[in-house]
Amino acid sequence: MSTAIIAGTDIYRIPGLTFNTETIQTPYGDAIVNIGQGAYNDLFFLPRHGPRHTIPPHRINYRAHIKALHMLGVQSILAAYAVGSIQPDIPPKSLVLLDDFLDFTSDRPFTFYEGGDTGLAHTIMSQPYCPTLSQRLRELAPEFDLELRPTGTYVCTNGPRFETPGEIRMYRQLGGDVVGMTGAQEATLARELGMHFAAVALSINWAAGIESTIRIVNEGQEAIRARLLSLFLKVLTTPSDFHCPCQQSVLFTHRPAVGFNDAAGK
Ligand code: HPA
Repeated sequence: MSTAIIAGTDIYRIPGLTFNTETIQTPYGDAIVNIGQGAYNDLFFLPRHGPRHTIPPHRINYRAHIKALHMLGVQSILAAYAVGSIQPDIPPKSLVLLDDFLDFTSDRPFTFYEGGDTGLAHTIMSQPYCPTLSQRLRELAPEFDLELRPTGTYVCTNGPRFETPGEIRMYRQLGGDVVGMTGAQEATLARELGMHFAAVALSINWAAGIESTIRIVNEGQEAIRARLLSLFLKVLTTPSDFHCPCQQSVLFTHRPAVGFNDAAGK
């Protein structure tokens, strides 16, 4: 089964693995995807901000990314997000296994189902992250000396600016635990194509208003990121018995034209 890792800030390679970089053409534009070599030839690695981190959160072509992975036959995706901490029990350097999100983005393409030939569908997001992959991450984290907060709600903002203190107070009152600028579209688009998708957030700062300014905490993060990627590899290379809603969540009111959104097609 083909699998993928999507990662962002400060994750541009996976230690110990070599990749070939390829451009995958999709109906939504090109996606640059790294394809694992040797024993990992069915693993794909996608740095969401581009290989040189030049694409801001609101300009990432999320649809091309997820569509490209789908065209490559990927069925399971693990994603990592650098985030700010909203809740006091999540200090910088904490890892949070996401189980919910609040989407505050606007003006971003966020669906494959635009009507007409592309179909019209309403996708169930009652469990936004794959419970099977999430459970595997929870179970295997201690093997990698990682403490995962078992649940967390990700607030997705437009960026690229950081939030104001008032916005963070509002997000806290609404139940947000961590805040980032990229998480909501990937989870939604993967679910629209029936892919298993789970995600871990790594806090790199206290959110706005908690300290007098945003201070990125870099110390110790590289080692955490390396262990997190090892955990991802372990989960993706261990067969899982999937009991989850991921492949039955799309309710079509109008089906896409034949070939649209199947794995190889448009
Ligand atoms: N806000 C939004 N996105 C982020 C933050 C933050 O504080 N830290 C890392 N990504």
